[in-house]
Amino acid sequence: MTLKISDRGRVPPFLVMEVLRAASEREIRGGSVLHMEIGQPSLGLPAGAAAAVAHEVAGGDPMGYTVAQGIPALRRRIARHAHAVYGVEVPVERVFCTMGSSAAFLIAFLTAFAPGDRVGLAAPGYPAYRHILKAVGVEPVLLPVGAETRFQPTIEMIEGLGLDGLIVASPSNPTGSMLPPEALQALAEYCHGAGIRLISDEIYHGITYGMTAATAAAFSPSAVVINSFSKYYCMTGWRLGWLVLPEDMMRPVECLAQNLFISPPTISQIAAVRTFDHLEELDAIVRGYARNRDLLVHGLAGLGIDKVAPPDGAFYVYADVSHLGPDSRELCRRMLDETGVAVAPGWDFDPADGGRFVRFSYSGSTATVITAIERLRDWLPKRNA
Ligand SMILES: Cc1ncc(COP(=O)(O)O)c(C=O)c1O
Repeated sequence: MTLKISDRGRVPPFLVMEVLRAASEREIRGGSVLHMEIGQPSLGLPAGAAAAVAHEVAGGDPMGYTVAQGIPALRRRIARHAHAVYGVEVPVERVFCTMGSSAAFLIAFLTAFAPGDRVGLAAPGYPAYRHILKAVGVEPVLLPVGAETRFQPTIEMIEGLGLDGLIVASPSNPTGSMLPPEALQALAEYCHGAGIRLISDEIYHGITYGMTAATAAAFSPSAVVINSFSKYYCMTGWRLGWLVLPEDMMRPVECLAQNLFISPPTISQIAAVRTFDHLEELDAIVRGYARNRDLLVHGLAGLGIDKVAPPDGAFYVYADVSHLGPDSRELCRRMLDETGVAVAPGWDFDPADGGRFVRFSYSGSTATVITAIERLRDWLPKRNA
């Protein structure tokens, strides 16, 4: 007998992970791979924080559950950091820690939206937004964005669409482009006035190259801010993120989180408190990303790949490669097979126009970026031979 299975699980796969699998298979066969498909820091917890965590573990901390919101010491550090970076007073009660920003999205979407609601989001954009929305019965409304608006949504794009929510990400994945503070402010104020719940993904804050990253918490009392220790803080596998919540969502989020997850990982919370003492190490890592970014953007331009989204932040270059063929997935497959350079096809981020683009991640070493450019310089002329 065939049993019923819910449509909620029928979401598309994450193509980046499929490239990663193909790249790993190549490595198992003895081939070399330059990993530019995955967006994660290659360095771990700052040494001082790691030592402090080891000390706690050796001291026999039982690592039990914490309260659902996360330990007060961490929530206070997050609020203090927000004040230092943005000059904004974030009440500690409104900071809610989660298992990565991924869990924060699930809780925020479940709390803010009802089945059938419509939520706008930029295409290209991070694929999990639309897949999680679909899984919880909410309709993603894709907003095609391009170079004219720095690959970011505008008020004009969302007017009249009858949206219940809007997701913005600045810096964005896959483009790295940012909303200037005044544009974020205008969107936040418009959404508040129009009854549209703004969800601001601020996971790449800290990794910017000159442009100021503003927080939506400064501009709207109804916006939901989502952030994470996975990128700037180099704690990707520790699975810790946080929300800055509007007042009306605090209690429902607490009840949902208690039932879904009980609490965020205890050891990770202890590590995160310590990490705030070592921000200078993290800033040095960002300076390394900045070098990689310049090398990659100039290197790609030298190869004729010069139509790229403004790489204002994060660690990605989203490049138009339509002159190299109609299907970015096929291009990525051949690039990996013939050069060992692994990059992500645009289809992951944009189901309509992704065939024209690939995403390069420069979160790895400078040597990776330099070698990748050298290999592509040799390969591109012979590619059609
Ligand atoms: C824009 C964006 N948001 C959220 C996430 C999820 O991160 P995490 O669950 O590790 O916090 C990612 C991961 O790559 C991302 O790029």
